[in-house]
Amino acid sequence: MNRPQFRAIEGTRDYFGPEGDRFDKALSLAAELFRNYGYARVRTPVFEGTDLFARSIGAATDIVEKEMYTFSPGSDSLTLRPEGTAGAVRAYLQHGMDKQNGLVKLWYEGPMFRRERPQKGRQRQFHQIGVEAIGSPDPLLDAEIVSLGLRYYERVGIAGVGLRLNSIGCRKEECRPRYRRLLQEAIRPNLGRFCKNCQARFERNVLRTLDCKIPQCRELAQSLPKSHENLCPECAEHFAAAGEALLALGAPFVLDPTLVRGLDYYARTVFEFTHPALGAQNAIGGGGRYDGLVEELGGEATPAIGFALGVERILIAMEAAGTCACSIPLQVFGATRGKAAHRAMAGLAARLRAAGLSADLDYQGRSLKAQLRLANRRNAMCCLILGDDELERGEITVKDMAEGGGQATVSLFDCLEKIREILPCG
Ligand code: HAM
Repeated sequence: MNRPQFRAIEGTRDYFGPEGDRFDKALSLAAELFRNYGYARVRTPVFEGTDLFARSIGAATDIVEKEMYTFSPGSDSLTLRPEGTAGAVRAYLQHGMDKQNGLVKLWYEGPMFRRERPQKGRQRQFHQIGVEAIGSPDPLLDAEIVSLGLRYYERVGIAGVGLRLNSIGCRKEECRPRYRRLLQEAIRPNLGRFCKNCQARFERNVLRTLDCKIPQCRELAQSLPKSHENLCPECAEHFAAAGEALLALGAPFVLDPTLVRGLDYYARTVFEFTHPALGAQNAIGGGGRYDGLVEELGGEATPAIGFALGVERILIAMEAAGTCACSIPLQVFGATRGKAAHRAMAGLAARLRAAGLSADLDYQGRSLKAQLRLANRRNAMCCLILGDDELERGEITVKDMAEGGGQATVSLFDCLEKIREILPCG
């Protein structure tokens, strides 16, 4: 009989084994570190009204034009979230967090969805870890956020992360709108030499010409006017202060005039983290200020800044760095011979787990020898050996699985104490 072969959809992944462990580690370290910096967790739905994304990310962006998973179950148009900022700001407004009269710091993690061409480090369902600090224009906050991202990579064991920084100015006439016109004037005489995509975006989204990946466009972009040299005085001052504060925090950066980011809500500071293990998709995270977004979504004018880090790309860099490559070791494995001993071991494992230890046993009727092999494969730190005869005498053997570790037969009552002697930090 032919069995159906079900496979994960192209651009989606299963996580298990050592990679699954790395995933867990990436998330648990984020929860710990972000709490240290005063961020509270927010969980928002994986789908929202399509308008929310069109309004925040921008109708003329690749994400909204080509990459969203949009469906209409009735008269509504819904979209699987392609990123987390829009939902976080929607929740901020919906639940009156804007009335708290202060800086609101939120963090999130979860799956995001973009219909991009899958390749190494680029998926259609991917995961982000992100922070959003809503309510302050202080350039010191820009520096704190960027250095938080760098701290995070350090904590998960990723070295060699690069930092690119730029400012794309604000919406004031003399700032970005004027710069946009300058760019168009500079490009217009050579428009035919740019790629089709850049030509199509010339009127609607000319800034993206700067970060086009086509070599010919990159070369032409070199001589175009730079946004950081065309900021209004307030944005220029803000950018200088953010850069100084970053250097004071020990975070060297590369000023990259071609960094404009692919989402329309950005204003002023924008940044990207890069890693050499990633190849073409080398952005391991990115973010920036989005001072106009809260207002765009119906709130008061509120400055804000945040970032999102791509978990898949973090996992690639962690693997390259050899971080957490083996499974998390099991503390206790219980091996048995005989039915009564097997039953007793199931009860003992439950008590060990209740005492906070990780414990497991065989449920497939393996021989004692095979169970010991399994304990080794599971990287158990300590192995209990119990036969029906020992059980009758009220005894159990506790074996230290470290190289050269000994074993001792103790009373069943003393077994937890013996285990604690063997485990590092008891
Ligand atoms: P983004 O640059 O679009 O920014 O995404 C952030 C990170 O998510 C990227 O640097 C990358 O690591 C990862 N990423 C993006 N697309 C994919 C994909 N298809 N496959 C795998 N990883 C991917 C944002 O999403 C903004 N919401 C960040 C932000 C937060 N800005 C302010 N607050």
